[in-house]
Amino acid sequence: RRRVAVLTSGGDAQGMNPAVRGVVRTGLNRGAEMFAVYEGYQGLVDGGEAIRHVEWDDVSGVLNRGGTVIGTARSKDFRERDGRRTAVKHLLEHGIDRLVVIGGDGSLSGADLLRSEWASLVQELADRGEIDQDTADRHPALMIAGLVGSIDNDMLGTDMTIGADSALHRIVEAIDSIGSTAASHQRSFVVEVMGRHCGYLALMGAIAGGADYVLIPEDPPLPGWEQKMCALLASGREAGRRNSIVIVAEGAHDRDNNPITSEYVLNVIRDTLNEDVRLTILGHVQRGGDPSAYDRYTSSILGYAALEEVLSAKPDGVSKLIGTRGNRVSKVPLMESVAQTRALADAIAAKDFNTAMAMRGNEFTE
Ligand code: F6P
Repeated sequence: RRRVAVLTSGGDAQGMNPAVRGVVRTGLNRGAEMFAVYEGYQGLVDGGEAIRHVEWDDVSGVLNRGGTVIGTARSKDFRERDGRRTAVKHLLEHGIDRLVVIGGDGSLSGADLLRSEWASLVQELADRGEIDQDTADRHPALMIAGLVGSIDNDMLGTDMTIGADSALHRIVEAIDSIGSTAASHQRSFVVEVMGRHCGYLALMGAIAGGADYVLIPEDPPLPGWEQKMCALLASGREAGRRNSIVIVAEGAHDRDNNPITSEYVLNVIRDTLNEDVRLTILGHVQRGGDPSAYDRYTSSILGYAALEEVLSAKPDGVSKLIGTRGNRVSKVPLMESVAQTRALADAIAAKDFNTAMAMRGNEFTE
């Protein structure tokens, strides 16, 4: 029987549990022996109880739960070659040479690195007498499949990352709640949302929540934006609007790449409009709570597809990222997606906002 492990890595995201469940149950259906690695890559390095055999019931009751029931971590040990060699040893103790990784671009690159080093690490283990040559010969390659788990929706190569839809729901609920208290007092609110270098949550939250102004990293505002924003808020008030909401992505910055902090935005509104302004930093609330219906069904389908991929993957093939494109499951070379995602971050760092917006499928207006 083929032996497959699944792990979640990096920041947790709603929908990771349905994905793990989809992987495990599809594997069992296909006659594979399934394992869960607890605490991400750290669990691979630690071995022992962290690598557990799982059956159908072990993933019961997790479809609607936030976070990841198999734990996650940002492992320092796995960044070192020695740590990765130990990880290979622990996988081989269970005869596992197929792995589904659910995580962000760093976690997925880690998986691809392990795949590319696998043969040499296996040989090193045999040379050191830590595994026998027969075991080394039976597992010449590691086959992997990657699913993008991140609330940020920051990976090129998939339309949506696992967790982004649920996080957006949290944000919109929060904007609705803030809107009612803001309207009661005729106040302005600045709401800071997560997303790292990606403005997806901020932009979609602003549209879906009916905010007045939004600041995102990909489309930094022109100099003088402060006056424009305040004029817009003032005209809303004059027209009878009782609340004003400005969404600031945590990665927002100006055209010189100086950060635009939510505190700065608050001060600008308070000092320009002489208003009583409040700031809400939504923080990890966005990552918590139940997965949305979308994250449940999409992650289930993606878990299924990732398992199919890892079972059919060839030892000499390239690692695949399983995602969605136009409401269809899609499969793209994992490292190409990672490279594009990093190229976008580099374009922003180089103040090449035309390229950054084009990579997001939008036009940049000077
Ligand atoms: O990548 C997901 C994310 O929630 C980002 O939006 C945020 O910047 C970061 O993780 C927070 O990381 P931590 O949970 O380590 O504070």
